[in-house]
Amino acid sequence: MDLLSALRTTAAIREFDDRAVDVDVVHELLETARFAPSGGNRQAWRVIVVNNEDQRALLGDAYRKGWYEYLAQGAAGLVPWAPVTNREAEREAISNAAAFREMAEQGSGGMAEHLEAAPVLLLLVADLRFLATVDRDLDRYTLVGGGSIYPFAWSVLLAARAFGLGGVLTTMVVNQEEALKQAFHLEDHHCIAGLMVLGYPMHQPTKLRRAPVSSFATFDTLDGEPVTPH
Ligand SMILES: Cc1cc2nc3c(=O)[nH]c(=O)nc-3n(C[C@H](O)[C@H](O)[C@H](O)COP(=O)(O)O)c2cc1C
Repeated sequence: MDLLSALRTTAAIREFDDRAVDVDVVHELLETARFAPSGGNRQAWRVIVVNNEDQRALLGDAYRKGWYEYLAQGAAGLVPWAPVTNREAEREAISNAAAFREMAEQGSGGMAEHLEAAPVLLLLVADLRFLATVDRDLDRYTLVGGGSIYPFAWSVLLAARAFGLGGVLTTMVVNQEEALKQAFHLEDHHCIAGLMVLGYPMHQPTKLRRAPVSSFATFDTLDGEPVTPH
């Protein structure tokens, strides 16, 4: 598959067949993703391949806590955990998370409910000593640090595609970072950037829903003329 096609058709995969993923394949994905860019080429990503059952169970619990809160916020019409939002409405929505858990427990469940059984779980950690966060001291939410970690995650997913695997970067466990630190031996200068879930896909959707260029790109100012093809 050529590069442009891969970029346009690599979807989030959350359902996997029963095939185990060989550790050599996981190594190959990381071996490719290590060429991802990062601020100052500091490569602050760390990856924990989580095989241990107790640790997987911890991640499953942490994920589900975040997931039901996420669903509750979405159902209330909120963008979950948006840095700019109505905090009161958010608290109110999150207080209904238990209802979403109960609903999920009545069905057969999705990725969240079966997270511990995923073929591959990669806990993605950032070493804060190596992140050049130029917006660190601005009086607003900081964004730049993640830019040195998430391209790596995307490279893992693109490499996975090349190997016939699929997966998704998830962030639901990040909320539970404090509770998870000890189990994974993280120190105070570490933070959890996400949890990558990988395996051989049940289905490989390739038609992605994305907004057109003209809806997010403009000339000269943010409210300038939309960028369209000539
Ligand atoms: C930073 C980030 C966090 C995400 N967190 C989650 C998550 O916690 N759980 C999940 O199922 N998907 C998560 N996703 C996947 C997105 O939901 C997915 O990329 C998006 O809906 C587009 O899906 P598609 O490529 O299949 O169209 C995350 C993606 C990104 C980039």
